[in-house]
Amino acid sequence: MSRGVIPTQGGYTPSRVPARSVGVGALVLAMITLAAGCGSGSSSSGTSTSAGGVKLVAAGKLTTCTHLPYAPFQSSEGGKIVGFDIDMIDLVAKKLGVTQTVVDTPFEGIKSGQDLNTGKCDIAAAGMTIKPERAKVIDFSVPYFNATQALLIKKGTGYASLESLSGKKLGDQSGTTGKDYVTSQHPAGVTVTEFEDLATLQQALATDQIQGAVDDLPVWTDYIKKNPGKFEIGAEFNTGEQYGFGIKKSGNPELLKTVNQVITAAKSDGTYNTIYEKWFGTKPAS
Ligand code: ARG
Repeated sequence: MSRGVIPTQGGYTPSRVPARSVGVGALVLAMITLAAGCGSGSSSSGTSTSAGGVKLVAAGKLTTCTHLPYAPFQSSEGGKIVGFDIDMIDLVAKKLGVTQTVVDTPFEGIKSGQDLNTGKCDIAAAGMTIKPERAKVIDFSVPYFNATQALLIKKGTGYASLESLSGKKLGDQSGTTGKDYVTSQHPAGVTVTEFEDLATLQQALATDQIQGAVDDLPVWTDYIKKNPGKFEIGAEFNTGEQYGFGIKKSGNPELLKTVNQVITAAKSDGTYNTIYEKWFGTKPAS
């Protein structure tokens, strides 16, 4: 149903219908209502299409699910959601001829595929690591970023391993690969506390509720830079992770194809490097 049809029908106002044809006027109104209902119904049920023939949950928009904050991949700055992932997905939106709109939602619903399955968004961009169990419930793009885990500590406290925190408190983030890593190590004598998001985990370390925090290295590097002299990396754990954008499992192969094309093109034409330098201040290691 073309949206252009609606204003045309709206031109038939009851006043232009002869007084004795009230029934016809009512019918015309009913048709206008039906047409309007049809238009909004198609956009919310995921059947609207963009110019590129790719299905989108809301007409004219590429809707992205993310979990804030996760700078420099996604964070809210001056009321705007910005970051490396946001810039990458903007390239996809541009290719589709639509604009990106971002939904902030807990990481659990993102990594379980639930948000994609329920049509909350078209794509998940959340610094999300590609893992076999996640790939069973989500279609992942080609990898777009390499990461590892790391232990963040307060500067000068000297903790250089998880074991060194015996008798102390360690924090990690719900649902993440950092949490998985800590769980797999079960460091003896360490009290582990889980935090719902990165901001509360950072806050806990800053206020000495915990003595160490495990999360992805690139977010710690960014945090250290933004808080000079306060924090440092105690240890790096070489988990060899790769991030991928998520798409509804077997739900949108056209979008998956477009995303992969955009990542590959950005890497070969220098756009990827430009975006990388904008958010990390250095060129990517090749
Ligand atoms: N890379 C980690 C994972 O996939 C952490 C991602 C957390 N992302 C976020 N936006 N909160 O588990």
